[in-house]
Amino acid sequence: MQTISRLPLLRTALDALRRAGGTIAFVPTMGALHEGHMALVREAARQADHVVASIFVNPTQFGPNEDLAAYPRRMAADQSALAQAGVALLWAPDAAEMYPSGFTTEVRVPSLSTMLCGAHRPGHFAGVATVVCKLFNQVRPDVAVFGEKDWQQLAVIRRMARDLDLAAPAPGRIVGVPTVREADGLALSSRNAYLDPQERLQAAQLPQAMAAAVAALRSGEPESRVLGTLRDALVAAGFAVDYAELRDGDTLETAPVLTPATRLFVAARVGRTRLIDNMAVEGG
Ligand code: PAF
Repeated sequence: MQTISRLPLLRTALDALRRAGGTIAFVPTMGALHEGHMALVREAARQADHVVASIFVNPTQFGPNEDLAAYPRRMAADQSALAQAGVALLWAPDAAEMYPSGFTTEVRVPSLSTMLCGAHRPGHFAGVATVVCKLFNQVRPDVAVFGEKDWQQLAVIRRMARDLDLAAPAPGRIVGVPTVREADGLALSSRNAYLDPQERLQAAQLPQAMAAAVAALRSGEPESRVLGTLRDALVAAGFAVDYAELRDGDTLETAPVLTPATRLFVAARVGRTRLIDNMAVEGG
């Protein structure tokens, strides 16, 4: 696997890969890779002939009081995991390469960015949409693969690609991969590394309380009561709840009536770690 950190070299390497024939699937990441990322790489390998991954801890998607400085960085371990998984090329630019002096353009997807995490992390999704738009233009993949744990991010990226008529990845070829979970249900996340042993035990109560809420909704309990019980359970377990909401999975609009697209979205903090998760209400 080649690791490349300069854009002209990336273009040369991608041209060589394309000349070798076949299609390219792209897995953008911020590194500190875990089994959830490796599931994205495996899906990418199913979708195309060559897999290109990126590692870039994107400063513009972190708020001023967020964890940019503390965000885990494990480049050597990440490189070896990606190489072992058969990734052909790793794009690992630094901030100066991604945002050269004078950089000023921003991509915003307001109708999907102001609710849920967007309401608690102003500017976050503009940072994500801008960097992913750049990454797509840099790599020009046939397919791109993202985790469904960041469901709102996936919705923003799909809408950005559609609204801007992005040609690469090909229309409709932004693939979502179901969330990978620990045995106790906790969704894998690079930020789980921040949890101390006590917080790690507490953290498992988030997906467990969400699964109980989904079961109650399926059994016909009213939404407001279920969401109230969920919030109470999370607070009793020591969480500070940012939101616990039912929304349409496509439009992210509030879901006063349950439909097959309705999902339960939760963000809650345990200690200083912010966890997010989402689950389908119908059909698992
Ligand atoms: O999900 C992530 O790791 C990041 O938000 C992404 C998509 C790589 C953009 O920086």
